[in-house]
Amino acid sequence: MGVNLKGRNFLKIIDFTNRELNYLVDLARDLKRAKYAGTEQKMMEGKNIALLFQKASTRTRCAFEVAAYDQGAHVTYIGTDGSQFGVKESVADTAKVLGRMYDAIEFRGFAQKDVEDLAANAGVPVYNGLTDLWHPTQMIADLMTIREAKGELKGLKFVFAGDAKNNMGNSLMMACAKTGMHFVGAAPKEYWPSKELIEIAKKEAAVTGATISFSENMKEACTNADVVYTDVWVSMGEPKEVWEKRIKDLKPFQVNAAAVSVAKEDYIFMHCLPAFHDLETEVGKDIYDKFKIDAMEVTDEVFLSKHSWAFEEAENRMHSIKAIMVATIGK
Ligand code: CP
Ligand code: NVA
Repeated sequence: MGVNLKGRNFLKIIDFTNRELNYLVDLARDLKRAKYAGTEQKMMEGKNIALLFQKASTRTRCAFEVAAYDQGAHVTYIGTDGSQFGVKESVADTAKVLGRMYDAIEFRGFAQKDVEDLAANAGVPVYNGLTDLWHPTQMIADLMTIREAKGELKGLKFVFAGDAKNNMGNSLMMACAKTGMHFVGAAPKEYWPSKELIEIAKKEAAVTGATISFSENMKEACTNADVVYTDVWVSMGEPKEVWEKRIKDLKPFQVNAAAVSVAKEDYIFMHCLPAFHDLETEVGKDIYDKFKIDAMEVTDEVFLSKHSWAFEEAENRMHSIKAIMVATIGK
């Protein structure tokens, strides 16, 4: 039977099979080619999409907007200012209202429960644009990027270094489990995903031939890696006070020249972005003044090297979010 994702929510990777994930990656690849070739067909004319953001975004917001416009749909951006969401109006009531006006709703926020409650009450597909727990739309872009670079996913050694208990670590562990990659989390134990999530990932891995492991030794983790991935050490919504401990704990897991020297010769570097790789940001400068560290999770040497696919990955956010929308609400 063919894959049919019409009307489906996109809340977390666990909800999808390997086949469905690869179907979305295939569709994203086709849509990317069509856009480049000037042959894109509009599958979402007349559709309206609400974009609800409780946290900042560059890539996710722009990806949803451009993807919608390319496909003939309209969007409404709803930020934290000027919306009653969660302040004067419950998540359920907001979902019921938006579901009557829009064909789909994107939500970026804190609690995974909020996006699940939206989905339970909206009556239209809800897309998780990032919560504290998961970042599923990023996964389709990441799988797409790895396939572009490596041809196929199954059997690759995938290392996630740094704060592996955050939305990105959780999501990448699950995406590897679902698609047959060998996931290695390189981090101190207190930064590993929860036991429950590791158990779920291991069960999925047993089906696809993937493996899930962790190492507190960066060199050991990166040995023979095909993909080395990292994310910020402090995520949106976390207090400034955690920086000092994070730097101390995660500095040994920085992706730098020494760390990748043991990876495969043709390894690729990935990062969901934004990244702290130099002193060109306010936060980067502030951290430098306080802790005298001029790069955090990744050094320029790696970030700007020929191994880095970070900006292809960022572009793929748009093609893959377009695929998610076309698959769920397209004609
Ligand atoms: N990777 C990502 O989600 O980027 P934004 O926070 O800019 O949306
Ligand atoms: N872990 C990061 C991901 C940003 C895309 C955060 O939540 O801030």
